[in-house]
Amino acid sequence: MTANESGRGLTGEVYYPSEEIVSQATVKDYETLYRRSIQDPQGFWAERAEELEWFSKWETVLDESNPPFYKWFVGGKVNIVHNALDRHAKTWRKNKLALIWEGEPGDSRTYSYHALNREVCKFANVLRSMGVKKGDIVTIYLPRIPEQIIAMLACAKIGAAHSVVYGGFSVEALAERIEDAQSRVLITADGGWLRGKIVPLKETADEAMARQPTIETCIVVKRTGQEVYMEAGRDYWFHDLMSLPIANQACATEVVDAEDPLFILYTSGTTGRPKGVVHTHGGYMVYVYTTLKYVFDLRDEDRWWCAADPGWITGHSYIVYGPLMLGATSFMYEGAPNYPYPNRWWRMIENYAITVLYTAPTAIRGLMRYGDAWPNRHDLSSLRLLGSVGEPINPEAWRWYYTVIGKERCPIMDTWWQTETGGFMISPLPITPLKPGSATRPLFGIEADVVDEHGNSVAPGEEGYLVIKKPWPGMMRTILKDPERYKEQYWAKFGNMYQTGDSARKDQDGYFWIIGRMDDVIKVSGYRLGTAEVESALVSHPTVAEAAAIGLPHEIKGNAIHAYVILKAGVEKSEKLAEELRNHVAHEIGPIARPEQITFVESLPKTRSGKIMRRVLKARALGLPEGDLTTLEE
Ligand code: WT7
Repeated sequence: MTANESGRGLTGEVYYPSEEIVSQATVKDYETLYRRSIQDPQGFWAERAEELEWFSKWETVLDESNPPFYKWFVGGKVNIVHNALDRHAKTWRKNKLALIWEGEPGDSRTYSYHALNREVCKFANVLRSMGVKKGDIVTIYLPRIPEQIIAMLACAKIGAAHSVVYGGFSVEALAERIEDAQSRVLITADGGWLRGKIVPLKETADEAMARQPTIETCIVVKRTGQEVYMEAGRDYWFHDLMSLPIANQACATEVVDAEDPLFILYTSGTTGRPKGVVHTHGGYMVYVYTTLKYVFDLRDEDRWWCAADPGWITGHSYIVYGPLMLGATSFMYEGAPNYPYPNRWWRMIENYAITVLYTAPTAIRGLMRYGDAWPNRHDLSSLRLLGSVGEPINPEAWRWYYTVIGKERCPIMDTWWQTETGGFMISPLPITPLKPGSATRPLFGIEADVVDEHGNSVAPGEEGYLVIKKPWPGMMRTILKDPERYKEQYWAKFGNMYQTGDSARKDQDGYFWIIGRMDDVIKVSGYRLGTAEVESALVSHPTVAEAAAIGLPHEIKGNAIHAYVILKAGVEKSEKLAEELRNHVAHEIGPIARPEQITFVESLPKTRSGKIMRRVLKARALGLPEGDLTTLEE
């Protein structure tokens, strides 16, 4: 439908869903259900929870006695894996495809619900036989292959928490996550395929294990087949373990409390080390199930493709747990979107008849750059919905996605959420009139607002802090081993409101427009990085005395990292050294953190108390006014 239809009361560039989309939608009246969910959140969430199976029912839906440490479905006995796998084994879905996977070299595998359950049971028995149990945190460092999903589910099945480290991270990022979680078991692979090359995961894991010797057992999946170092008594091949008698197919799912941890996922914050965000079985389960069901309206005949990595929250919620709980068929692809040619994604959509594609603005911009001819060579008519996540989508990319990929038939679900929120928070439904660049309105049970410094709502059109005013089931419970930091970081600023760290505007129609991070978090290609992490990687290099990192706008990546470096006395600056430092950051954190540019400087703008004023660096780089400099020490 065309833009800007007047007479329906919405302002600006608006795209309305077709009659067909509306007639098929599960939720046909957002207003009524939203009002209900806000007036009676506990009743609303209890009803949603009843759509899933519990070993025994909760006593209290929400325990608010010790804010901000909210608890959901208190007293309930459950296991998310029971709802993701066991439940389907009792129905016709056991022979339905759960997963279709394609490797970058072109190999492929499929798993029915029955087969996936079988592999998970076998691997759960392997882990159990190694003494893994409730209370343990298993670190998983794998490429985008089915074993990543199998490993996560196997941990959850036996009540252990998983900590998945994205396969694009490198030595120090992996080492500090292993250390923080005190993991004894690490699951990795000999390598993974990316752009026709092998990513040497085992090599990186070996280096990380040398730095953090808590790992007693390392399980290695053979993916690429190249030779890797295997340490006797520590390293075991996944396929060897899976062929032992202990890896049998019968494995009871552990009964856990609704509030028991399901996983830890590390994410970047304002200061220092990454935070271990803790999510639980019960509330997370209900929240992810509900949001996926309403926003993408998944049905049995769908072929759902969430193109994220299971190593990020998007993958945890919407590749692994959400689609499986809904009994959907997911597609997963190992490699780069433009390998070997820029039509790889479009070809796979055609080949597998994908019906919903959920990806990030950076991927859309990256593929848009190659022109319309690549997607136009393929039949994309199987698509019925599109999705976007990770950063604000610029209207130009939105329109391309909508017209060239969705052929003006497929509404775009621009979902705003965070690692901390567990699932979608602000997002359209298929029936929602869309405005390019706006995540539209809060989902059910979510009271979002834009407030000023004092926590008062700002007027429509004004910029302010994006906050959430009430707890929701999918919310993080704490930061691993650091509840004080959880309180301080998310709940201190505005008393009893959850602070997202984002700035936003709300327009006169109540639509939310996310502007970006207000803290020292940089979104690079949708990946979240902290300035502090990049800086500490830089100063770990022997030539660097001090460093400051900022994000500057980048056409494809959204933001790119720019670093300012003060060298130690006597060290000569050179282009070669700049390149060495960029590689050093990539080696320590991962290729995504590689600074776009390194500038050698003699001094950095600091406050009198010695804090680097990154906003001044940013303003200078962009040629903007430097703002209030009264605290500047220079
Ligand atoms: C930050 C959270 C949650 C999935 C992936 C990111 C930004 C996320 C959107 C969106 C504008 C978005 C925010 C948020 N963000 N989705 N649709 N529109 N901004 O999770 O790594 O925890 O990052 O990503 O800045 O705070 P994450």
